[in-house]
Amino acid sequence: MSDNIATLEIKGEKYEFPLIHGTENETAIDIKSLRGSTGGIITIDPGYKNTGSCESAITFLNGEKGILRYRGYAIEALAEKADFLEVAYLLIFGELPTSEQLTKFYKDIKAQSVVDDDVKKILDAFPKSAHPMGVLASLTNALTAFNPSSVNVDSEEDMYKAIVKILGKFPVLVAWTMRKKRGLPLDYGDSSLGYVENVLKMMFKQPNEEYKLNPIIVNALDKLLILHADHEQNCSTSTVRIVGSSHAGLFASLAAGISALWGPLHGGANQAVLEMLEAIKEDGGDTKKYMAKAKDKDDPFRLMGFGHRVYKNFDPRATIIKKAADEVLGDLGVEDPILDIAKGLEKEALEDSYFVDRKLYPNVDFYSGIIYRAMGIPTEMFTVMFALGRLPGWIAQWREMRLRKEPIGRPRQVYIGENHREFKNIADR
Ligand code: CMC
Repeated sequence: MSDNIATLEIKGEKYEFPLIHGTENETAIDIKSLRGSTGGIITIDPGYKNTGSCESAITFLNGEKGILRYRGYAIEALAEKADFLEVAYLLIFGELPTSEQLTKFYKDIKAQSVVDDDVKKILDAFPKSAHPMGVLASLTNALTAFNPSSVNVDSEEDMYKAIVKILGKFPVLVAWTMRKKRGLPLDYGDSSLGYVENVLKMMFKQPNEEYKLNPIIVNALDKLLILHADHEQNCSTSTVRIVGSSHAGLFASLAAGISALWGPLHGGANQAVLEMLEAIKEDGGDTKKYMAKAKDKDDPFRLMGFGHRVYKNFDPRATIIKKAADEVLGDLGVEDPILDIAKGLEKEALEDSYFVDRKLYPNVDFYSGIIYRAMGIPTEMFTVMFALGRLPGWIAQWREMRLRKEPIGRPRQVYIGENHREFKNIADR
C-alpha cells in the first residue's frame, strides 16, 4: 500500500485502488471499481463496521480519542456557548450564523410553524396507548400528504423553504404527540418565545393556567438537544440518507429516520435505560445482579446506555450529560434514587474486566433520561426528544447527500440460498 494506492491480490491477480484521505487523516480504500475490474467480486461487511457510505463535511468523531465536532467546533464548546438553533444553522449551512442570519432563520421557521388542522384528525385516530415514536413517525410522514411538492435541490430557495418548514412544524408534532397521550388540548405555544422555550410551553402548558418557564429546564433541554443534534453516519442518519437517495421527499426520509431511531439499540436506549434503572430499584437496588446478567452470554440482557459502535474510550456527550444531570437535579431540588443507582452501575462497570476489555463505557443515553425525568417528561417521550434534537443533523445530512448528487443507495449481497430448482405443483409438494 503506497500513500495513495492500495493493492489487492485475489487468486494471484493484483488490483489497484485509490486511497481517499479525509481532513483528519482518515484513510479509505475507494473500491468503486472493484466489482467491474475483478469480474464480480464484492466486499461484505454486515453492520457496516468498516464501510464508509459517503464523504461528509458535517460531523467529525474519533471514537478512540472521544472527540466529537460539528463543522469543526468541539461539542464541549457548542454545548457550553451556543444555543440549539445556532447549532441547527451551523450543521445545516456549515457556518455559525451572524445575529442577522439567526434572526431571519428563526423568523422563517416561525412563519412555517402552523400545521394543517386536519393533522389533528390523524392524531385523534391513534389510541392513547400508542407509543409516541410510532405516532411521531406517522405524523411526519403525513406531512408529505399536506406538503406534496418535492424539493428542487438545484434551487437554494426551495431547499431553504423545505428546511424551515420542517423545523417549524416538527416541534408542534412533538408536543401534540405528548399532549394527546396526556389527554390535553392541542396548542400552538407562543412564537414570541425562543425555539426551545416554545417547545416546552407547547408540551407543558395547562389549559387553565399560565405557563412559567424555568430557566434551568430551558438550559438543560437546550444542551441535551445540542448534544443529540448530529452523530455522522449512525443508523437513523444512514436511513435518512438512503431513503433520500431514491429522491423520496425530505419529510418521508425523516419519517424513516424516526423509525430507525426508535429501536432500543439506537435512540430507544434512553427509554430502555430508565426502565432498566427503575427495574433495578424495584428489585432492591442490587446492581451486582444486573451486572452479572449483562455479562452472561446466555442472558439476552444488556446494560442499556453502555457501549457504542464508534466510541471505544469514552462518549464525550456522556461526560457533559453526567455533569448536567448532577447540576439540573441539584438546581431543581430533585432527589432521584435512580441517579445513585446509575452512578453505582457506572462505577462497577468501569472497574469490571468484561466492560473494560470490550471498551464499553456509558453512552449519551445513560444519563439523559434522568434529566428528562427531572424535567417532567414522561419516559415514553424520551426518544421523541432525541428525535427533536437529531432533526437538524438529519436535515443537514439529507441536504448534503442531495447537493453532492449521491447515487441511489443500493448495497449488494452474497446469495446463500438454494440453487435453481424446478417448480413443483401444489399437489406434488
Ligand atoms: N451490555 C453488555 N454487553 C455488551 C453491551 C452492553 N450494553 N454492549 C456491547 N456488549 C458486548 C457484546 O455482547 C459483545 O461481546 P462479545 O464480544 O463477547 O460477543 C461486545 O460487547 C461487542 O458488542 P457488539 O454488539 O458487537 O457492539 P456493536 O458495536 O455492534 O454495538 C451497541 C454497539 C451500542 C449497539 C451496543 O453496545 C449495545 O447494544 N448497547 C446497549 C444499547 C445502547 O445503549 N444503545 C445506545 C447507543 S448511543 C445512542 C445512539 O447513538 O444511538
